[in-house]
Amino acid sequence: MPRFMSDSDVVDRVLAHIEHKTTDRGTEVWREPVENYRSQERLERERAMIRKLPMPFCPSHALKQAGDFVAREAATTPLIVVRGKDGRARAFVNACRHRGTQLVSGEGCVGAFVCPYHGWSYGLDGGLLGVPHSDGFPDMDKLEHGLAEIDTIEQNGLIYVVQEGESASVAHLLDDLPTLFSSDQHIFKQGEMSIDGNWKLYLESFIEGYHIKPAHGKTFYPFGFDNLNVIEFCGPHSRVTYPFRRIEKLAKVRPAERDITGSVTYLYHLFPNVIVSKLSHHMSLGVIEPLSPSKTKITFYHLTNPTEINNLDAACEAADRDLDFVNETGQQEDIALVEGIQRSLHTNANQVLTFGEFEPAIVHFHTQLAQHLTTD
Ligand code: FES
Ligand SMILES: [Fe+2]
Repeated sequence: MPRFMSDSDVVDRVLAHIEHKTTDRGTEVWREPVENYRSQERLERERAMIRKLPMPFCPSHALKQAGDFVAREAATTPLIVVRGKDGRARAFVNACRHRGTQLVSGEGCVGAFVCPYHGWSYGLDGGLLGVPHSDGFPDMDKLEHGLAEIDTIEQNGLIYVVQEGESASVAHLLDDLPTLFSSDQHIFKQGEMSIDGNWKLYLESFIEGYHIKPAHGKTFYPFGFDNLNVIEFCGPHSRVTYPFRRIEKLAKVRPAERDITGSVTYLYHLFPNVIVSKLSHHMSLGVIEPLSPSKTKITFYHLTNPTEINNLDAACEAADRDLDFVNETGQQEDIALVEGIQRSLHTNANQVLTFGEFEPAIVHFHTQLAQHLTTD
């Protein structure tokens, strides 16, 4: 599987594009039926596909010590992902084995999970520890009543869940992805939001730079370029590089001494439904969760950049400023556009949405999606 280019090669490619007034482009125009954004049946198939693939659930940083857990739904399955005493991250269906009650919500740190209904308790490895008045269940085998476990993969600084099937059969999809989050980063903010738009519309807004000038004329464009991107693929995943104008200064710096930090935004799309962005002073992970064909929830984790951990307060402050700028400006512009598209999808104005040669990461996404849905 091809790897993403080195920072130095990205700089060279961007500088060449600036000089020649070009950009990376694809060779295919893709027409995606609007019905694929409207259909409940299609959404069910997409969710079934997500359940079979390694889906990033949270950064490793979210589970720092034994007992740290995150509980939320992924592709309609309520999950608990927890760090065990042995350091391993495990995932369980968030359902008590007595009568199915959810054990926890949100996140926290526990020594054991105790069901709020009748008090059955489970260890961090999912094993059933205790049953109050256990003589009421004379035939029960405790070993068979541990929490239902699903596979996890911890790699690239992320914890992935594989809800159906074995992780070994899909782990190759993560081959050659770079380390995205390292141990010298810090989660400085997290949260969630929902938007009135199909999950794919939201995802698509991140992975092309063809819209920078018209859509972000007063926000991102003054610092960047219109339709000037480096676009790369790594298996089903992609990376879109958005250069800032200040990258031109690197033309005068010897390649071995160039530091790309602050000169580009890297936007990784981890197929199918996760984005990771690396900006000047922070990185973000966004898990895009379809709630319905027209409603989407996004869970965010925002982390400081790796090199700035020595002065954590300053790093958090810089990261916060960076994030505010993105969230309060360009992100709002994108969400307004996405929700606007959503409001027209029920009309017959478009039978298809068209993605041209300047939107190849979206074409790659739909190609991969079609393939994975067909092989289901
Ligand atoms: S449902 Fe959990 S203890 Fe009864
Ligand atoms: Fe945008």
